Amino acid sequence: MSFSLEGRRALVTGASRGIGRGIALAFAEAGADVAISARDEKKLNDVAQEISALGRKAVVVAADVFDRDAVQASVASAAEVLGGLDIVVNNAGGNSFSVPLADMRISGWTKTFELNVESVVHVAQAAAPHLMASGKASMINLSSVASVGGAPFMSHYGAAKAAISSLTKSLAIEWASAGVRVNTLLPGWIETDLTEFLRVDDDTEKMALARVPMQRWGRVHEIAEPAVFLASDASAFMTGQELVIDGGLTVMP
Ligand SMILES: NC(=O)c1ccc[n+]([C@@H]2O[C@H](COP(=O)([O-])OP(=O)(O)OC[C@H]3O[C@@H](n4cnc5c(N)ncnc54)[C@H](OP(=O)(O)O)[C@@H]3O)[C@@H](O)[C@H]2O)c1
Repeated sequence: MSFSLEGRRALVTGASRGIGRGIALAFAEAGADVAISARDEKKLNDVAQEISALGRKAVVVAADVFDRDAVQASVASAAEVLGGLDIVVNNAGGNSFSVPLADMRISGWTKTFELNVESVVHVAQAAAPHLMASGKASMINLSSVASVGGAPFMSHYGAAKAAISSLTKSLAIEWASAGVRVNTLLPGWIETDLTEFLRVDDDTEKMALARVPMQRWGRVHEIAEPAVFLASDASAFMTGQELVIDGGLTVMP
């Protein structure tokens, strides 16, 4: 029963599709009311309907994570409608280009950090008072296996996600006495829109999966269910940690 999220109030960013949508639905299945955020309101409304169909309250709080004021307003509105916040998942993020660092425009580097790192700072600062008022709160940040070793041609993305791992550890220490746990999920290759470009043809896909011992794509629910674990009392003594879910990718010699 310690995996239950009955009575918990959650906010998930980047919940219009992919991993964020999967986490929002898994939270609802585990008993939580869920506020969902992203830019695409139409898709968010569809996800909200799916949450409602599971018998839980759903709140759409659309925001672009580049816009600090909009993020603050979305967190405030989520907390107001749900009556507080016990769980926050910083999932919005990603990467849209691949280039050697020597040729990279600095604007690309900066945008990647704004999307993947500053966004988390905006949400964390806005959510902090609500999480601290909960007394039993959990924040989950989405990093990536790209942060573990080098990330050639994606140095911007690897460095941004490595920053998330560091930020998670700092917040875990700063917030432990206030009853807020902070952990990171590190997915490997998961089948979402973000990795669509690796499935354009068989050769590209084979190359992507060549270093994955389990020889397949991870599925969204395989990240969503560990997120339920990190959000719930099942992980009550766990903070500042990184949970790698990658089909064995990072243990390959
Ligand atoms: N898929 C993988 O293999 C993989 C591996 C490691 C880590 N991750 C990480 O896991 C997270 C989710 O990835 P995913 O595969 O589910 O990606 P995805 O399918 O591309 O979904 C990204 C989500 O983030 C939202 N988003 C993007 N830009 C945004 C912005 N400026 N403001 C607000 N929301 C924004 C998108 O919604 P809108 O477009 O509606 O705004 C969408 O809901 C990301 O942080 C990613 O880096 C993914």
